[in-house]
Amino acid sequence: MTWNIHDAPDQKGRIAIVTGSNIGLGYDTALALAGKGCRLVLACRNLDKAQAARGQILARYPKARVECQTLDLSSLKSVRAFATGFLKSHRKLDLLINNAGIMMPPYSLSEDGFESQLAANYLGHFALTGLLLPVLARTAGSRIVSLSSLAHNWGHIRFDDPHFKNGYSKRGAYGQSKLACLMFAYELNRRLQEAGLKTLSVAAHPGVAVTNLAQHFPRFLTMFFPLVGQSAAAGALPTLYAALGDDVDGGDYCGPRSMRQMRGAPVKVGSNRASRDSAAAKRLWKLSEELTGVSFLS
Ligand SMILES: NC(=O)c1ccc[n+]([C@@H]2O[C@H](COP(=O)([O-])OP(=O)(O)OC[C@H]3O[C@@H](n4cnc5c(N)ncnc54)[C@H](OP(=O)(O)O)[C@@H]3O)[C@@H](O)[C@H]2O)c1
Repeated sequence: MTWNIHDAPDQKGRIAIVTGSNIGLGYDTALALAGKGCRLVLACRNLDKAQAARGQILARYPKARVECQTLDLSSLKSVRAFATGFLKSHRKLDLLINNAGIMMPPYSLSEDGFESQLAANYLGHFALTGLLLPVLARTAGSRIVSLSSLAHNWGHIRFDDPHFKNGYSKRGAYGQSKLACLMFAYELNRRLQEAGLKTLSVAAHPGVAVTNLAQHFPRFLTMFFPLVGQSAAAGALPTLYAALGDDVDGGDYCGPRSMRQMRGAPVKVGSNRASRDSAAAKRLWKLSEELTGVSFLS
């Protein structure tokens, strides 16, 4: 039996935030949630693009409840403003889908001085999760889904130089950020359990999906993507399974089951030893609190 979105229960009365949902996997995740009756917040760095995505979702599901909010995950100021606004205007949050991401851009530092991939893919989501934890914790059945990648195997956490001040490797920095997302998902679940909270933290990865993510790839590699990659709709299924699957538990990692996890139906998958190093995860948590100024569950 393979899990499909049709297996998910009706989501009426529930609300989800999907970061980076104007295109790609985030858009298809939001679209599928809307189809299940879930109320949506499209949390995107460009409001015009978010409104265009909202229009596409409403064209498919005219009764969908979809709002657009500005969120730039590479700016702690923007993350704080988004979280403050959400907490003021919403009393519950069932699903936080930490999806937004960038891959292998030229070197740059965020306005907070963080390497750009670590900032947008990981540190912004770390801060966002911490700031939204109060509303998640009081919502029965809530889940936090963090997007990792097969690329979690490419990197390690450079505790001595997380922002690549000494020699940038765009591949290593992407690997570091996605390993951090996975370590965070596991450590978050451990801490939620220790605190006696019922919110689940689950990780997911899409395998290889044909999206805009490959925009900084060399041209020959962008040709490789469509050969092995699946559609964004198929790539969103592990995220949806992590968010909605009734046999999914906190600390699980969901990904495609075929072709070395590059494509196929969503199942629970394993991850490398570094991602499961709980001592390193605690160290990463402390570093993330210091860098973002957001402390929670510690
Ligand atoms: N596609 C794959 O094969 C693959 C494989 C493994 C993991 N993933 C992960 O899946 C997630 C989604 O990627 P995708 O493939 O759907 O890529 P995508 O098509 O490029 O979409 C990425 C989304 O993230 C948004 N985003 C980027 N930086 C942001 C920031 N600072 N603040 C807010 N939003 C930001 C983008 O907004 P703009 O449109 O404004 O740029 C876009 O909405 C990422 O976390 C990625 O690492 C993807």
